[in-house]
Amino acid sequence: MDLIVCVDNNWAIGHKGDQHVAIPEDRKFFQQVTMGHAIVVGRKTLSTFPNGLPLKGRDNIVLTSDRNFTVKGATVVHDIDELKAAIKEVEAAGKDVYCVGGGKVYELLYPYCRYAHVTKVDYSYEADTFFPNLDKLDNWRVIGDSEEHTYFSLEYYFYKYENTDIMPL
Ligand SMILES: NC(=O)c1ccc[n+]([C@@H]2O[C@H](COP(=O)([O-])OP(=O)(O)OC[C@H]3O[C@@H](n4cnc5c(N)ncnc54)[C@H](OP(=O)(O)O)[C@@H]3O)[C@@H](O)[C@H]2O)c1
Repeated sequence: MDLIVCVDNNWAIGHKGDQHVAIPEDRKFFQQVTMGHAIVVGRKTLSTFPNGLPLKGRDNIVLTSDRNFTVKGATVVHDIDELKAAIKEVEAAGKDVYCVGGGKVYELLYPYCRYAHVTKVDYSYEADTFFPNLDKLDNWRVIGDSEEHTYFSLEYYFYKYENTDIMPL
């Protein structure tokens, strides 16, 4: 399993239920990376998707503690054990799995991920949700970075990190 996230200078990922910024090229990158594979998403982040629906062209695994929660076109899991089983099943079927957030789900799953695709936006937003600062963790190292990209006056970069001590699922 890998993960994909967009962070600011403080590794912030969102505020009041929404992402701080939507950069079209970053959205395109997200589509390219995840298309045809499986994604793991928290119930709160799912609600921010268009019409609150699973993303097309991908197997969507949604985590919620609510056993009455249903959504068409997604596999709903209710705890970490069910989640791990669902991830293993999809991987066994030959698909890649991407953790796509939000904060709670990243926190739960990042130790199990091999690669992190991190879009870094050079700005400090007001935020209430954060991703762990991988630069401060010994077992995560940068294995790729892009040149500077710009969106209006915003500068951003695409980084790839590798976890050298992956926790087994
Ligand atoms: N910058 C980025 O790349 C990025 C990407 C994705 C999201 N985001 C942002 O992240 C924020 C949302 O993150 P969040 O942490 O508030 O929510 P989240 O991780 O999307 O979803 C949290 C929900 O997942 C369920 N959940 C989490 N752990 C669980 C467990 N162990 N067992 C059962 N259910 C569990 C719960 O659902 P129930 O309440 O239904 O039980 C919980 O309320 C938003 O601001 C969003 O825009 C940013």
